[in-house]
Amino acid sequence: MSDQSAFDTDVWTLTRFVIETGRQAKGATGELTQLINSMLTAIKTISCAVRKAGLVHLQGLAGSVNVTGDDVKKLDVLSNDMFINMVQASYSTCCMVSEENKDLIVTPKEKRGKYVVCFDPLDGSSNIDCLASIGTIFAIYKRISEPEGEPTDQDALQPGNQIVCAGYALYGSATLVAISTGSGLNFFMLDPAIGEFILTERNVKIKPKGKTYSLNEGYAKYFHPSITEYLKHKKFPEDGGSPYGARYVGSMVSDIHRTIAYGGIFMYPANEKSPKGKLRLLYECNPIAFLIEQAGGLATTGTQRILDVQPEALHQRVPFVVGSSDDVNEYLSFVKKHP
Ligand code: AHG
Ligand code: MN
Ligand code: MN
Repeated sequence: MSDQSAFDTDVWTLTRFVIETGRQAKGATGELTQLINSMLTAIKTISCAVRKAGLVHLQGLAGSVNVTGDDVKKLDVLSNDMFINMVQASYSTCCMVSEENKDLIVTPKEKRGKYVVCFDPLDGSSNIDCLASIGTIFAIYKRISEPEGEPTDQDALQPGNQIVCAGYALYGSATLVAISTGSGLNFFMLDPAIGEFILTERNVKIKPKGKTYSLNEGYAKYFHPSITEYLKHKKFPEDGGSPYGARYVGSMVSDIHRTIAYGGIFMYPANEKSPKGKLRLLYECNPIAFLIEQAGGLATTGTQRILDVQPEALHQRVPFVVGSSDDVNEYLSFVKKHP
């Protein structure tokens, strides 16, 4: 075998994939391709910063000063700045919603385009200091307000069923991007040697039933009876089956990626202390629900499909239960018993 055989001479990069799917879409102008490419640059830079965080003291609180006297930005502040700057530089958005910004981020007039992005620049921030996997999550919509006027909150308050493209980056043992433009879910892995995301799994499907449940069971004291009963059933199955295993990283992107890869259920339900759960509809639940559905799974609040929830506020929270279809349906049968 020659050395050359190790190289794929017709490799599918994420950029190539986006260009190709863009060309197939009717009336496409290339603006979405531009937007996705800019986000990929932000993701590559965040990935690099995440990998260096331990070395150059990017951990810890924002506002501290490093040895050279520069401000040290906390990793999530740095990721947020990076994402906003890259996206605005793509000339393809009119506004954005970020977990880190209270208000709508309006793109300067001269840089505006037709898309809206809702994103969580760094998900799983509590895991930064212990070097566990973290991620970035995003959803893209089309602007609904008139292009001549100013963008408004309404542009971002669209239900998830209007998503044009969504994805997450996982900064794990490798950096991965899971992305969908509505025709299946695809995985791309960052090849650091060439700085490109390479297609590693096309049209990913989640198993109809898994063997794992994933939630913060420390809140058991505050759970609704439907959750308590469901978990009891998973641990002490009355049908003679094996109990489910439990896994919970506390970085949703990691927990979701495992759920997609191996099957099972992830939950951040409402509880007595957090009556709407914790996770945010616009930039955490909607993009993940979109991707999970693209993979054949389900995502629900317990009473409604996540993607059909009409958002009312930029940082609104919703109860979130997602994963393999049989597992989510089984959970819903417990909700029916304890309405
Ligand atoms: P973020 O770091 O963006 O604030 O999100 C953290 C989220 C999510 O990643 C994870 O599933 C959840 O918080 C964990 O919360 P608990 O510590 O309450 O389990
Ligand atoms: Mn988050
Ligand atoms: Mn975050």
